[in-house]
Amino acid sequence: MATEESGIFNGKIKLGVLGGGQLGKMMAFPAANWHLPYWVLDADETAPAAPYATHFVAGDFRKKKDVLAFGKKVDVLTIEIEHVHTGALRKLQAAGKIVHPAPEVLDIIKDKGTQKQFYVDQSLPTSPFQLFSGKGSIRKAVQAGKLSLPFVQKSRTEGYDGKGVVVIQTAEDLRDRLLPGPAVVEDLVAIDRELAVIVARNARGEVRSFPVVEMVFDPVANLVDYLLAPAQISVALEKKAIQIAEDTAAAYQLSGLLAVELFLTTSGEILINEVAPRPHNSGHHTIESCPTSQFEQHLRAVLNLPLGDTQLRQAAVMVNILGEPGYTGDVCYEGMETVMAIPGVFVHLYGKKQTRPFRKMGHVTILGDTPADALAKAEQVKQALKCKGESGKGVNV
Ligand SMILES: Nc1ncnc2c1ncn2[C@@H]1O[C@H](COP(=O)(O)OP(=O)(O)OP(=O)(O)O)[C@@H](O)[C@H]1O
Ligand SMILES: [Mg+2]
Repeated sequence: MATEESGIFNGKIKLGVLGGGQLGKMMAFPAANWHLPYWVLDADETAPAAPYATHFVAGDFRKKKDVLAFGKKVDVLTIEIEHVHTGALRKLQAAGKIVHPAPEVLDIIKDKGTQKQFYVDQSLPTSPFQLFSGKGSIRKAVQAGKLSLPFVQKSRTEGYDGKGVVVIQTAEDLRDRLLPGPAVVEDLVAIDRELAVIVARNARGEVRSFPVVEMVFDPVANLVDYLLAPAQISVALEKKAIQIAEDTAAAYQLSGLLAVELFLTTSGEILINEVAPRPHNSGHHTIESCPTSQFEQHLRAVLNLPLGDTQLRQAAVMVNILGEPGYTGDVCYEGMETVMAIPGVFVHLYGKKQTRPFRKMGHVTILGDTPADALAKAEQVKQALKCKGESGKGVNV
């Protein structure tokens, strides 16, 4: 839109971001390249994005009045976390503010139940599922033969980083491990690999995807252990994964980024697990590995600018820096200089002062001439880099 564009490069358009976490921080850097007024709303004044926002507003993105007051000060609104007050965003949109992703899309995605139903309604591939109101109705369904073990139970709302997801395999699990509250119960998929595609879409109808990445999980933390780009899959599967991701973004009629988490099953099918309408952990490597990072691409998509080049320049591995198990308290990093001395290694810290077991404290991107080269260096990084509590202050847990 000419009006939007004309204000973007002369500081007239103010961008407001709901959430001040690490995603909001990393989006502040491409925003700064264009000298965009970059406003951030977060209740925590020490949030990772706070020092990099041109305007930081203390307030709760889950509260209607805080979102409304914040929205009135800016022209274009986006998010870096889904759990925001969408009623307030609808009001702001009705009052003429540009809001991407649309509040309607956020409402579908925020609830894993409505999200799964959306894929069924849109004929997009996802694993079979049923919805339940609580533990009791799940147990009854099993007793009545309407549900069989094993299955995956997910809380409909508020799950993240694997919290709110349990695999129920045995009668003991069914007795002891069910999560309380409304849940989606999915068939346990026989997963060969977990893949992700980040696709960008803007209001002028352009669509562009980043190369498919492969996520490898730590079975103990239930978090991504490392991520490899490009995924080691056939060209045919790569094309199929990208097609599904682009179809999904089109079905949502989204403007912005959509990170699509996919399962490649042992029988070669590709299923949608879940999506995030924002930058995503699986796209952090793009900061160094692609001409346009996922953060810049999100800004371009939300502001309806031409989408940038997403070609992978080199193989990349991304390792999350997680709080070491056994340490809680003031953070202290070990091995940082060793890691920084390895060529093609880029450290990102999120500025969180307190570590906890498996807390996401930062990430490292490792570039290599080949996937094997990047993976070998990533192994060195993982061996050397530890995120512990400061000696004397850390509390062993
Ligand atoms: N139906 C399923 N079958 C088998 N494994 C599954 C299934 N659903 C989820 N998982 C496993 O659990 C992980 C976490 O699930 P999901 O992505 O839905 O939760 P989350 O808490 O939103 O995760 P995150 O925030 O880390 O993306 C998946 O990455 C996958 O390893
Ligand atoms: Mg997930």
